[in-house]
Amino acid sequence: MSPFSRVLSTFFALIIVLFFLINTTTISTSFFTNINAFSHFLTTFHGKNNHHYSSNDHTDQPHISLWRSTWRNPFIAFKGINDISPSSVFNKKNISRAISPDIAKCGPVELPPNAITLPYCCPILPSPLKIIDFKEFAKPNAPLRVRKPIHLLDDEYMAKLEKGIAIMKSLPENDPRNYIQQAKVHCVYCNGGYPQKPPFQNLKIDIHRSWLFYPFHRWYIYFFERILGNLIGDPNFAVPYWSWDSIEGMQMPKYFADPNSSLYHNLRDPRHLPPYIVDLNYHVNAESTTQDQQVNYNLAFMYKQMVLADTKEVFMGGVYRHGDQAQPAIGSVELAPHNTVHKWVGRADLPSQEDMGTFYTAARDPIFYPHHSNLDRLWGIWTSLDGGRKDYRDDQDWLDSEFFFYDENLNLVRVNIRDSLDTKKLGYVYEEVELPWLNASPKPSRTKLQRQEKKASLLASSQDPITTTITKFPLVLDSKVSLVVNRPKKLRSKLEKEREEEVLVMEIVDLHSDKDVKFDVHIDDDEEMLSGPDKAEFVGTFTSVPHGSHKSKTKYLVAISKVLEILEAEEDENIVVTLAPIVGKGLVSIGSIMVEYIPK
Ligand code: C2O
Repeated sequence: MSPFSRVLSTFFALIIVLFFLINTTTISTSFFTNINAFSHFLTTFHGKNNHHYSSNDHTDQPHISLWRSTWRNPFIAFKGINDISPSSVFNKKNISRAISPDIAKCGPVELPPNAITLPYCCPILPSPLKIIDFKEFAKPNAPLRVRKPIHLLDDEYMAKLEKGIAIMKSLPENDPRNYIQQAKVHCVYCNGGYPQKPPFQNLKIDIHRSWLFYPFHRWYIYFFERILGNLIGDPNFAVPYWSWDSIEGMQMPKYFADPNSSLYHNLRDPRHLPPYIVDLNYHVNAESTTQDQQVNYNLAFMYKQMVLADTKEVFMGGVYRHGDQAQPAIGSVELAPHNTVHKWVGRADLPSQEDMGTFYTAARDPIFYPHHSNLDRLWGIWTSLDGGRKDYRDDQDWLDSEFFFYDENLNLVRVNIRDSLDTKKLGYVYEEVELPWLNASPKPSRTKLQRQEKKASLLASSQDPITTTITKFPLVLDSKVSLVVNRPKKLRSKLEKEREEEVLVMEIVDLHSDKDVKFDVHIDDDEEMLSGPDKAEFVGTFTSVPHGSHKSKTKYLVAISKVLEILEAEEDENIVVTLAPIVGKGLVSIGSIMVEYIPK
């Protein structure tokens, strides 16, 4: 070796050592990501993976199990960049803080510990990476695709859906239009497959429990619909909706229960086949009620989640920007009926109520798509209530937030939320049906006198209930608890109530994300004899769909202006809030609870 090359090699060795010293954390993360991406590449392209997916196929993939032991708490990881906070990065105005997944850095998803299948959910990306920006708005005079409720559709129409799904299932497993590939799109966005863009690459994106929930799923169903229509040669085909909120739709549509159909799915709760009525407030231990009673419960429940939830934070979920932790706050309908119907369909005897009962497998069940078609429809209905409710459309970061999907021509398309807001521009509308819940306003369980006596005696007793000022938070929810929560404003005027919603804000901490958790929230109720979901005192339920294995936090908001009117408690200085754990006692804590006034 010449002296020159010796100097040169020492110099390079030094550079490499320095580089490792500075970047230990970052390197170790990306190193594992690359190993895994590489092994996935090998198995996919060299035919080593002779694993054929079918919707009932839940076999292990070895290279993933190796990974899982090194992969911890991706949602809460902030390692190596502790000195970076959103405020220090975005200190200047006009810097976009829209969320955009770093798709080239996709990594293994976080799975629950007893996962029955270990999918690698990242999409196969085109090489070189070519991304097309969405521009294909419907032509002004083109016919609109009309999404109809399944109970109004005939066999002929449903046969098209059946055929489309059968074709998707038969496509090669590395085709982005393949049925399991489509299901993995949901998995990767829900279980932390994508990091945020630098410098927040240690934060994983989750499209649940935030303002991304409705727009993400709108785009997801939109591309699914285009692919399906293309495969069956009918560009006007529209994904029908499962209208579990109308009386005729309150059971699993019969087409999905036919074992000979591609719409059938093995991993479902066998007790919930038609004509069994869906329970929109479902939990695994639910006692059965009469079918009539169930219908009334469902309607009252819908009223609460849609009509009473009249502010965007309460209905749509919380603000979520680049640099923020995932899952800031979950919306009312996302909690229930969205989560509850997921769990009602999934198998109660499987660890995470697979397939529908947990996000990594949910979209493997064909009923996922009509379920989300209905949620997309309800988003539009919510926005139109009271002559037009305010969503986040004044917020540039929301409008600019992005997602990526494959279209029917195998193009990778980048979309943003702005372009999703008008479904007509996307070429579809919903057939309107009656909304039987629109006037199902709940009544109180007891008389005003009874409520006031109960409240006075609770307030007078020294032990019970506890006030939020003396309660030690976090409060582990292992048994029923009643708290006195102060109301900063009493007897608000009509105008004030029109401008601001009174909201009960609960910080949810230490939520075991791999477990089934549900607790109900009651106001001025009788702890010994809590009211049912059709009564005004029952104001809502927090219910989780398992995401992964870490502990997470979020917020749960309940709009209470109208409830306080119904309970004639508007003059009261405080409310008694009872939290009743139903499933997963002790697996969630409350970090704080207070009344806030949120502009509508
Ligand atoms: Cu992304 Cu119904 O879930």
